[in-house]
Amino acid sequence: MTLLEKAIDRLPDKGYLNLEIPKGINLVEEINRMRKEKNAIILAHYYQTGDIQDISDFLGDSLQLARAAEKTDADMIVFCGVHFMAETAKILNPTKKVVLPDLLAGCSLADSCSGEGLRELKKKHPNAIVVSYINCDSSVKAESDIIVTSSNAEHIINSLPKEQEIIFAPDRNLGRYINQVTGRNMILWDGACIVHEAFSLERIAQQMLDHPKAKLIAHPEAQKPVLQVAHYIGSTANLLNYVANDDSQEFIVATEEGILHEMRKRAPGKILIPALTIDDTCNCSECHFMKLNTMAKLYLCMKYELPEILMDEEIRLKALRPINKMLEMSKAIK
Ligand code: 13P
Ligand code: SF4
Repeated sequence: MTLLEKAIDRLPDKGYLNLEIPKGINLVEEINRMRKEKNAIILAHYYQTGDIQDISDFLGDSLQLARAAEKTDADMIVFCGVHFMAETAKILNPTKKVVLPDLLAGCSLADSCSGEGLRELKKKHPNAIVVSYINCDSSVKAESDIIVTSSNAEHIINSLPKEQEIIFAPDRNLGRYINQVTGRNMILWDGACIVHEAFSLERIAQQMLDHPKAKLIAHPEAQKPVLQVAHYIGSTANLLNYVANDDSQEFIVATEEGILHEMRKRAPGKILIPALTIDDTCNCSECHFMKLNTMAKLYLCMKYELPEILMDEEIRLKALRPINKMLEMSKAIK
């Protein structure tokens, strides 16, 4: 049984997931009231829906959220993101209650890699160290030497000795991109983000023809052909900064669509065009895991303080080491 399955198993079977919201209540007022009463902090990723982003105490990308989770003195961390992010907050805060509005908010990248699988790969490369993208579960973190996010991966890999053999898990696209910009030849785990792999080069090329002044900006989780034609490649925080500070007025944005909510605020008046994906019939550039969290579930989660992230202490301690290493090694990154 995976930790996630165990956590679901521990939910009170009184149908927590079917609890109803009392009629006529104002969710925003109730969430604000409970936040004060319970000394809770709401952390949200930029891929959350706009209403959740707006009500959060702290909005950030993976690195910023890990740092905020490390610093907080709240009694309860309400994590509006996906499971591996809430788990990271719990690893950093074992005595605090960490809750996630929807426990099923997973991640295709995290699901692609298990601690056991990584252990097997390590056996084949006994001299390699393991650098894992934060988008992985605690069993994978526990098998890793250093954790990275998309904001600090290049910096951290560059600070390792050139001759050091490295296994990079679990994102093959970010790993390939980091290999390219750092001149390394890291051994890559074969995982991917379903959202960032859905972008269509052909359709984006057409968008670029239709908007000749627009710059294409992309997250490094996207595939090589898209990255090759991008004017700028960056993590969520870097894409936001780029759009706000660059002189261009038009951007085609190849990353999860939730980012547009904050981008519009930081770059008012600029034209932001979501990059097209391979399939017209789905909202493929929205992460359906992230969007499992809703205001109603946030309300219920704060009221019942469930579902809670629970962790095996041995795994937590092993997973803490590479996260602390990342926080230490990326102090220079804003
Ligand atoms: P960052 O927040 O590090 O840019 O990662 C993007 C992502 O896919 C989060 O799940
Ligand atoms: Fe995982 Fe991709 Fe969703 Fe991020 S956007 S949580 S990497 S599936």
